[in-house]
Amino acid sequence: MMWPNRFNYNTVFLDKEVDLLFPPDIQAVWSHLPFRDGVFECVVFDPPHMWGTLPKFMDNKKNLHGGYYGVFKNEKDMVVSIIKASEEFKRVTNRLCFKWAETKKPLHRILTCFSGWRKIHEYKIRPGMGKRSWRQARGNSFWVTFEKI
Ligand SMILES: C[S@@+](CC[C@H](N)C(=O)[O-])C[C@H]1O[C@@H](n2cnc3c(N)ncnc32)[C@H](O)[C@@H]1O
Repeated sequence: MMWPNRFNYNTVFLDKEVDLLFPPDIQAVWSHLPFRDGVFECVVFDPPHMWGTLPKFMDNKKNLHGGYYGVFKNEKDMVVSIIKASEEFKRVTNRLCFKWAETKKPLHRILTCFSGWRKIHEYKIRPGMGKRSWRQARGNSFWVTFEKI
């Protein structure tokens, strides 16, 4: 889980699923956000980074910690979904923080989905930082910050 505090009143937690250990404040899809233009200082975007069949222990259900990874049908579905999200985020904010794990697709390739955004910072998560997870054990994870052009 990314959020140490799910109940921070300065944030709005959105997900298309509600069957989560910490259900979202708002159930919606990121291609159609139920918010007015420019309302957020920042959007934090942590999409699933995999498609197809998940390893059995993840199984596209709540994991042991109650998280829900989600998975795209295929690579094209993933790219289209992330492009739509990146377009919609431009409507509601000027700043975007994007988390990516290179489990299936390298960062430089997924960054092509963010047209109209300028990358201002890229940070590679060092293994062992925070809670050690399967992601950190198996692949590189990154935080990327963008500002709207
Ligand atoms: C990597 S998880 C995010 C985990 C979350 N950041 C946390 O700390 O628990 C990806 C999430 O994206 C959600 N998701 C997938 N497609 C979505 C969409 N089109 N709109 C909104 N949420 C979506 C999945 O349901 C899943 O919970």
